[in-house]
Amino acid sequence: MPLSLVCLASGKGSNIMALMRAIDDGRLDARLELILSNNPGAGILGYAKERGIPTFVRDHKLYASREDFDRELIEAINAVPGEKAVVLAGYMRILTAGFIRAFAGRIVNIHPSILPSFAGARGAADALAHGVKMTGCTVHFVNEIMDNGPIIIQAVAPISTEDNEEMLMQRIHALEHIILPQALNWMAQGRLRVTGRKVELLSKDKTAPIPAFAKIGEGPHSAFMISPAPDAEFLI
Ligand code: GRF
Repeated sequence: MPLSLVCLASGKGSNIMALMRAIDDGRLDARLELILSNNPGAGILGYAKERGIPTFVRDHKLYASREDFDRELIEAINAVPGEKAVVLAGYMRILTAGFIRAFAGRIVNIHPSILPSFAGARGAADALAHGVKMTGCTVHFVNEIMDNGPIIIQAVAPISTEDNEEMLMQRIHALEHIILPQALNWMAQGRLRVTGRKVELLSKDKTAPIPAFAKIGEGPHSAFMISPAPDAEFLI
């Protein structure tokens, strides 16, 4: 059974487009059922229209409270049939505890840093400003603390002294577009085992956890590392 994806986004949505590419070429066993946005001007809405993906758009500024707003989102998501994953793909609003409880264990976030370093809205800029030599991105389950839930997969990117925020973000985005579809496909396959803070990736027959990581690319500017190792086709 394909996973029913519900994506929340506030911006241009390149991660959602990467999910669609992965679905189109059979790397992700899922259907993108609904895109929710709090931003009527979000770039992703044009793409959704072109691709005929249903959207649910509400301007959060028109609601009296965060709870009222999230209650409408919960209703919209509950109307989506099937086994769901709720994907935060550049969703720039803090979710209420009620929302997180409504989809406990089913919400996944993509964040542009190696968590727990540089949580918050400016992960890449904060890493640059701090002077770290490597950063990357993280896909994790969402709990009630921002950018804190159990980590599914991370990818590491080097930082060059020549980088500005835009250059670094481009490198991070390229990795995000690999690890988010991969994490969701593992979820679709039922291969993620969560024990407390730890997420284990199980082998395809689900008998044992896989310990491996993968290094991709050549040279100092593309020496990316991903752990756990994506299934081979994700590295092409
Ligand atoms: C990504 O960098 C993601 O890590 C962060 O927001 C950004 C969204 O980018 N949470 P896009 O809208 O998917 O292009």
